[in-house]
Amino acid sequence: MRTVCSGVPVSGNASDVLAPLQRILDGCYTVDDLELLLGITDPQQEAALFEAASRVREAAMGPGVHLRALIEFSNYCSGGCQYCGLRAKNSDLPRYRMEPDEIVEAAAKALQLGYKTVVLQSGEDHWFIREIVSDIVRRIKALGDIALTLCLGERPREDYAAWKEAGADRYLVRIETSNRELYQRLHPGMSFDNRLRCLRDLRELGFQVGSGVLVGLPDQTNRMLAEDLLFLLDLKADMVGMGPFIPHEQTPLAEVPQGSVDKVLRMMALVRLLLPQCYVVSTTALGTLDPQGRERGLQAGGNVMMPNCTPRQYRAMYEIYPNKICVDEEPEQCRGCLTGRIQSLGREIAEDQGNAPWTEQ
Ligand code: SAM
Ligand code: SF4
Ligand code: FES
Repeated sequence: MRTVCSGVPVSGNASDVLAPLQRILDGCYTVDDLELLLGITDPQQEAALFEAASRVREAAMGPGVHLRALIEFSNYCSGGCQYCGLRAKNSDLPRYRMEPDEIVEAAAKALQLGYKTVVLQSGEDHWFIREIVSDIVRRIKALGDIALTLCLGERPREDYAAWKEAGADRYLVRIETSNRELYQRLHPGMSFDNRLRCLRDLRELGFQVGSGVLVGLPDQTNRMLAEDLLFLLDLKADMVGMGPFIPHEQTPLAEVPQGSVDKVLRMMALVRLLLPQCYVVSTTALGTLDPQGRERGLQAGGNVMMPNCTPRQYRAMYEIYPNKICVDEEPEQCRGCLTGRIQSLGREIAEDQGNAPWTEQ
């Protein structure tokens, strides 16, 4: 059995009820410890886990919550992920693709609203060839002091290299599950090895790298999720986004029950303990399943939120799962709403761009 003795630079007496938690805080634990903590149901034990994660987050990252303005610029997708409403085979979904000018305009609006990071996300849309994206990246970076994150899926190394060269700072590719067999089953026509190749290329090219998993996939066990945590640790993920799986009617997984919000929160807390300086997102999917889900995420190790800054006319069509929140709100309304939610927890909106600590060295 694998033992991790990483010397995670935290210590504490978060819980004498939970020996595995103490071992993680001491930086010497096994995958069994992670699996066990993922399975806890006792509210007191869960509270001890979340408190430990909050303490580590406060010590490593402070009280700030980083807001990343999300622009979902195209819902065209050639992919076939079994869980996602944007999959190519969903012919019921009206498709849209924003013009490059519109994308840059949406980014300018995000900058005006005070956001320090813009995230451009889409399906696997090959209309956006390397040069078009490079041009958009350059134009957005020229708008002012803004960090730019891309989340466009799997591309050849040369595309990633060109976008880095154009000024992109960060890239997100969730591994979704680090279990090769489960990955292949849920992603027909895609390759687990290519997903790994993307993450490796991005790291080598100097991007700040984000990844994450979907919690509640069919046949996914706590053991697999514990191994996902070790995968994110090995990757030294700079950013992690994890959400509950939410079934979409027009997909092969329509009948699979939704993922558990509580388990996502436990995953977030454990990621925080394993990677104290990571940017951990409290996802929109959490807010979709539980009106207080994003606040709960911020109290379980999270320090990032991703307000939707997609122009309103497109939002409902970026339907990766049903009942997504913020579909009818304007970007200004989300900004105000999130400010209130963050302040209600005694936290504050971070003023800086929120770059990985290694970029500042
Ligand atoms: N196409 C790119 C990719 O797959 O990396 C980026 C966009 S994709 C819509 C962003 C994320 O949405 C995926 O990484 C996946 O985890 C999440 N997602 C897709 N379908 C979902 C569902 N039914 N429930 C929850 N999250 C989902
Ligand atoms: Fe396409 Fe990404 Fe959805 Fe997969 S998760 S179907 S690649 S948008
Ligand atoms: Fe969009 Fe609350 S964050 S309305």
